[in-house]
Amino acid sequence: MSAEGKESSEAEERALLRVREARKLFGGFAAVDGVSLDVREGEIVGLIGPNGAGKTTLFSLITLFLPLTSGAVYFRGQRIDGRPPYLPARLGLVRTFQITRVFARMTVLENLMFAAPGQPGESLAELALAPRRVRAHERRVRERADELLRYFNLERVRDQYAGTLSGGQRKLLEMARALMTEPKLMLLDEPMAGVNPTLKEELLGYVLDLRRQGMTFLVIEHDLDMIMRISDRVVAMAEGRVISEGPPEAVRQDPAVVDAYLGPGGQARAAPVDPGPPAGRALREEGRAHG
Ligand SMILES: Nc1ncnc2c1ncn2[C@@H]1O[C@H](COP(=O)(O)OP(=O)(O)OP(=O)(O)O)[C@@H](O)[C@H]1O
Ligand SMILES: [Mg+2]
Repeated sequence: MSAEGKESSEAEERALLRVREARKLFGGFAAVDGVSLDVREGEIVGLIGPNGAGKTTLFSLITLFLPLTSGAVYFRGQRIDGRPPYLPARLGLVRTFQITRVFARMTVLENLMFAAPGQPGESLAELALAPRRVRAHERRVRERADELLRYFNLERVRDQYAGTLSGGQRKLLEMARALMTEPKLMLLDEPMAGVNPTLKEELLGYVLDLRRQGMTFLVIEHDLDMIMRISDRVVAMAEGRVISEGPPEAVRQDPAVVDAYLGPGGQARAAPVDPGPPAGRALREEGRAHG
């Protein structure tokens, strides 16, 4: 890997996440085609674009789920692309998935415990060598889980199998799970998809509250009204590239963005509303490794 050179401008220094010229080829097809973007500490950045724009693939590149074909990803000033896939979570960078990925045959509590970093209890050697440290770690993990169960109002369903939860509760559980590692930056992939208006407001409330507590967000969302309300800044992608970037309203009204959503002939290519999870997409995501 190349040198992690000293960075230049102050704006860059403040950026928690920096993506530079990220490119991902699937066969000959560029799903992400030279994307650069910054997310600064404390920001909520919205990522929009029609179906197939490359938004989810970009998340996979940032979180090292998929290797970049070329380009670079920096988190907290450190170049992370090409490093082991566990590194982002360890540094405080987590994602949630377009199709929620709770473990259906684990209880809600187990889902949370399982998401904790380290899992020293799983190593027999460690158990034998430092049982007290392992127990202390498990106690901390349990405390964190309890705290999150309270925060997300999931205490009542703590011992239920996650598979029995409503879609909305699953969304909350997925968010809670991502928070187990006490991240600094959360990438949310369509958190509002398939969610009723009441729960949308609730989720919005959680995002804003977490931001008040110091969290930074990059959020993919098809519900443009939601993204306009929540984001400090919006980045729009189409066909693997960034086509517009700036204040939410300016991006929404940018002719390039309007065109991208309408497509040639003015026919809607992807309505800026929740499209639901097409089966193909679910299958594609299932094929990927679990984070
Ligand atoms: N593993 C893969 N193998 C081959 N092609 C892929 C793979 N993952 C994504 N693609 C393709 O890359 C393009 C971008 O897909 P991606 O899922 O990143 O889009 P998206 O912007 O998240 O779309 P949506 O809004 O529908 O979720 C699509 O054309 C998709 O079919
Ligand atoms: Mg997607």
